[in-house]
Amino acid sequence: MKLSFSFSLAVMITVLSVFLLHESNAQLNSTFYSNTCPNVSSIVRGVVQQALQSDPRIGASLIRLHFHDCFVDGCDASILLDNSGTIQSEKDAGPNTNSTRGFGVVDNIKTAVENSCSGVVSCADILALAAESSVSLSGGPSWSVLLGRRDSRTANQGGANTSIPSPFEGLSSITSKFSAVGLNITDLVALSGAHTFGRAQCRLFSNRLYNFNNTNNPDPTLNSTYLTTLRQTCPQNGSGFALANLDPTTVDTFDNNYFSNLQNNQGLLQSDQELFSTNGAATVSIVNTFSSSQSAFFQNFVASMINMGNISPLTGSNGEIRSDCKKVNGS
Ligand code: HEM
Ligand SMILES: *[C@@H]1O[C@H](CO)[C@@H](O)[C@H](O)[C@H]1NC(C)=O
Ligand SMILES: *[C@@H]1O[C@H](CO)[C@@H](O)[C@H](O)[C@H]1NC(C)=O
Ligand SMILES: *[C@@H]1O[C@H](CO)[C@@H](O)[C@H](O)[C@H]1NC(C)=O
Ligand SMILES: *[C@@H]1O[C@H](CO)[C@@H](O)[C@H](O)[C@H]1NC(C)=O
Ligand SMILES: *[C@@H]1O[C@H](CO)[C@@H](O)[C@H](O)[C@H]1NC(C)=O
Ligand SMILES: *[C@@H]1O[C@H](CO)[C@@H](O)[C@H](O)[C@H]1NC(C)=O
Ligand SMILES: *[C@@H]1O[C@H](CO)[C@@H](O)[C@H](O)[C@H]1NC(C)=O
Ligand SMILES: *[C@@H]1O[C@H](CO)[C@@H](O)[C@H](O)[C@H]1NC(C)=O
Repeated sequence: MKLSFSFSLAVMITVLSVFLLHESNAQLNSTFYSNTCPNVSSIVRGVVQQALQSDPRIGASLIRLHFHDCFVDGCDASILLDNSGTIQSEKDAGPNTNSTRGFGVVDNIKTAVENSCSGVVSCADILALAAESSVSLSGGPSWSVLLGRRDSRTANQGGANTSIPSPFEGLSSITSKFSAVGLNITDLVALSGAHTFGRAQCRLFSNRLYNFNNTNNPDPTLNSTYLTTLRQTCPQNGSGFALANLDPTTVDTFDNNYFSNLQNNQGLLQSDQELFSTNGAATVSIVNTFSSSQSAFFQNFVASMINMGNISPLTGSNGEIRSDCKKVNGS
């Protein structure tokens, strides 16, 4: 009697823990909305395509939102929450303030999705889908996006300050930040290839043009022709908010020119050029591989976007499906 009772208890505990483990380990998959919002991918794509008509930069801005979301407590749309009584917005964190953009387009996507399937699709999944549309509509690869993320009820501004890499920190520090979220140097090089489109503000690289590392000289790894051009875009005492193209060759196209730029010493950010110019770094040969083969770059980029999109998602009954991406439900 006593034996059979403890036996049944053991079975119950095993069944329960298998169930709970299953809940917390729920994997994202590409068919998550196939019954509840089968057309979600084309709805997102349609809004991104429309936004690109009036703003050729918006695809770059949207994929960056997904990156800055995923690096802070996982891909949970925490970056989209505005300040409120309980939220200290990640939008005001150092890497995001006066820098991240595209929030209005995310709201337009959310509205379009809610009009077709209300209360079903998370804002975190919208960011992942918008990133894929942005890349594929700009000439890059397309892929089947894994879905099933849910949205956070919290933001982590301090985490955004410390977890998102800065263009001024060295390769080893950036490698550590990627490694902290389970991404290796192949992921780092492939994902850095997203700097094949979009813009950067002079304040984020002009030290390289005039006074690199307190030398009163430009960064010695900067191509001298490119230096001349960049000094015109970013005069010494000009506005730090002026913009330069991250890829000077094919500015709004998603291709592998980013990597040949690095080989030509035309990486815009210090963190870009270091992938190629750091003596003995394991990243150098990966840059060379991606420069010589666009298909190798595209294939690795897709795999790394999936890896990044898998960073600690909220799944099952964790988190919520926000009805407004800017606010926690009921607030
Ligand atoms: C490896 C470390 C990285 C650093 C240090 C870095 C840094 C930066 C900086 C400083 C800017 C310019 C921001 C501004 O001027 O306001 C920028 C822009 C951008 N970043 Fe990164 N980034 C990194 C990785 C990534 C990754 C992994 C992605 C996406 C997969 C990405 C996508 C972009 C895009 C598309 C832009 C242009 C955005 C726009 O035009 O609005 N970056 N990044
Ligand atoms: C996708 O994930 C959801 C939630 O974990 C699950 O209910 C569904 O069965 C999965 N679909 C496939 C095809 O694995
Ligand atoms: C899916 O959405 C796209 C874009 O909004 C639209 O063109 C298409 O007709 C929709 N398809 C279905 C089956 O609703
Ligand atoms: C953001 O930019 C504006 C000028 O456009 C400036 O007044 C403000 O100080 C900047 N904020 C931060 C935190 O850099
Ligand atoms: C994050 O950084 C910003 C700008 O550098 C600063 O204003 C803010 O107080 C920081 N927040 C936290 C929580 O550390
Ligand atoms: C990085 O991880 C991927 C799997 O996601 C693996 O195929 C690749 O070989 C790894 N790269 C390095 C340099 O360890
Ligand atoms: C900056 O200068 C210091 C010495 O003052 C040197 O140790 C360091 O390697 C330099 N950093 C770069 C990125 O050149
Ligand atoms: C920039 O401003 C500094 C003082 O703030 C001045 O010494 C320098 O000559 C100026 N440079 C240019 C190119 O105007
Ligand atoms: C500088 O860039 C040009 C392309 O604009 C390239 O032909 C040249 O080889 C580069 N020089 C160096 C030293 O990388």
